[in-house]
Amino acid sequence: MAGDALLLQACARRPLPRPPVWLMRQAGRVLPEYRDIRTRHTLLEICAHAELAAEVTLQPVRRLGVDAAILFADILLPLIPLGFSVRFVAGEGPVIDNRIEGPADIAKLRDGAIEDALAPTFEAIRIVRGALPPGVALIGFAGAPFTLASYLIEGEPSRSFIRTKRFMYSEPAAFGRLLAVLAQRTAEYLRAQAAAGAQALQLFDSWVGALAPEDYRVHVQPHTAAVFEGLAGAAVPTLHFGTATGGLLEAMRDAGGDVIGVDWRIPLDEAWRRIGSDRGIQGNLDPGVLLAPVAEIERQVDRVLAEAGGRPGHIFNLGHGLLPETPVDAVRVLVERVHAHGG
Ligand code: CP3
Repeated sequence: MAGDALLLQACARRPLPRPPVWLMRQAGRVLPEYRDIRTRHTLLEICAHAELAAEVTLQPVRRLGVDAAILFADILLPLIPLGFSVRFVAGEGPVIDNRIEGPADIAKLRDGAIEDALAPTFEAIRIVRGALPPGVALIGFAGAPFTLASYLIEGEPSRSFIRTKRFMYSEPAAFGRLLAVLAQRTAEYLRAQAAAGAQALQLFDSWVGALAPEDYRVHVQPHTAAVFEGLAGAAVPTLHFGTATGGLLEAMRDAGGDVIGVDWRIPLDEAWRRIGSDRGIQGNLDPGVLLAPVAEIERQVDRVLAEAGGRPGHIFNLGHGLLPETPVDAVRVLVERVHAHGG
């Protein structure tokens, strides 16, 4: 299968001359051609129009030469057909007006099919697959049960997850029911993305690093594992991502994922030792490095590559999304440095 996209070969841990590279939040945020579209359309409008979503998905492939495209959507989109009013407030972040305040509110979750409501997302997948250059893979994604639940319970951006933790500790059974429903619906949504043509699936548990390892194992891991179990038949590789997860790596690995995403708070080689060589690793440059002068960006890219040590299964990425302040030229320096590696 030498013709497979580099990203898929890395997920299968085949030896490669260099790792594939893509960047979280590569679509949106930093590209002028995205900002131009955003002057005319809201985020939700872009997501609701397959042609626009496909165009924005393809922009970083053209401009940056990355080895994978990530579908333009948002982890919070599927919460809308589940009955929640999601608003993206400029400069603030996502707000859910009818947030979950207690166990009784879990009944607010509707059973309508996510797939029907998000038809443009699946159409965008089909358009992108028809337009991607050979060798470039399309990644689909969803939020993991804990991260989705934290948005549903907080209702607004939070740093300490006070409401989520209060709910988790005082109503553990109801919290478990909520995560179980989210896990089931997320697995359905991801299976539908794979059926539409997504070639790899990333589960974003962006905020799970807020939890102690024991709480993760008790309250979260079974539900995240249920998502991965639900994807077993989808026949596409899976990536499992979180930030500040230095205390959770083994538990996240046990929950599932062919590739585990790690951030810059832990050296890549140390993370890989703990996770084990039977999984791939994605990461882990600090997005803040892209604000540095070129020589420092190149030095740090080389450092991450050295920590990966050419082991099969490395996917070069940032440890979290691109910062909006990042100059496009800095992103190009990063991609070109990875591409020049081993060549
Ligand atoms: O390049 C890509 O990553 C494409 C698509 C994408 C978006 N959101 C579009 C978006 C992806 C993969 C996401 C995932 C997402 N959304 C996550 C997980 C990744 C992570 O960063 O941890 C999370 C936590 C969200 C929730 C979310 N959506 C937040 C917190 C915000 C507001 C602030 C911000 O910019 O991050 C959003 C809005 C959002 N989603 C934007 C984009 C491009 C903002 C820009 C805009 O309004 O145009």
